[in-house]
Amino acid sequence: MNHEKIEKNVGLMMILIAVAISFGGLAQIVPLMYQAEAIQPLPGVTPYPALQLAGRDVYIREGCYNCHSQMVRTLRFETARYGHYSLAGESVYDRPFQWGSKRTGPDLARVGGRYSDDWHRAHMTNPRDVVPESNMPGYPWLAEHPIHADEIVAHMRALKRLGDPYSDDDIAGAAAAVAGKNELDAVIAYLQALGTHAPKGG
Ligand code: HEC
Repeated sequence: MNHEKIEKNVGLMMILIAVAISFGGLAQIVPLMYQAEAIQPLPGVTPYPALQLAGRDVYIREGCYNCHSQMVRTLRFETARYGHYSLAGESVYDRPFQWGSKRTGPDLARVGGRYSDDWHRAHMTNPRDVVPESNMPGYPWLAEHPIHADEIVAHMRALKRLGDPYSDDDIAGAAAAVAGKNELDAVIAYLQALGTHAPKGG
């Protein structure tokens, strides 16, 4: 009887379907919010230092994620190429995270330390100077734009309010850390730190 009533009443059916799906979703999603593996930083992973944070802002503003993912999958050919597969504990301080799946260029999750700062400087200014077949655009203007300390301090304060464990000293030292630096310095500092706290090996 009841069953027939539900089947003949589309509105009621939709509501009950929504309830059934939400329970399924809750059962999968809520435990993740408390699972240590997903929310605890890996050893050595800290909130981004001022200059790296500034570089990350440039990375997002320039849309680097449109061509680069930052997530090594758990597949043999991925770990053989890039290194250990990505772990949630590496990106607990990434807001928003940059995992992605679009790869016009290579994954960047393990790029830290792979090249020298000078290589990045040349590559970011004009990729074809170091990788002749590259179709990555150049970003020559980054070197002409200084980092604004007040923006980074405000950004760090906002992240602290959201729960990132920045100390007062970190914030007080931010202006000095970015003094005299430009956006190219910042993006290189960011790239050079990517993946440096990941477990070694595949
Ligand atoms: C239109 C797509 C595109 C965009 C946008 C792009 N890249 Fe690339 N990137 C590539 C391609 C293709 C390569 C591989 C060829 C090369 O090394 O230049 C690459 C290579 C790289 C590498 C070397 C990776 C390695 O392991 O060899 C780095 C670092 C990099 N890009 C950083 C950036 C940053 C930072 C930005 C944003 C400011 C950016 N890319 C934007 C396409 C792109």
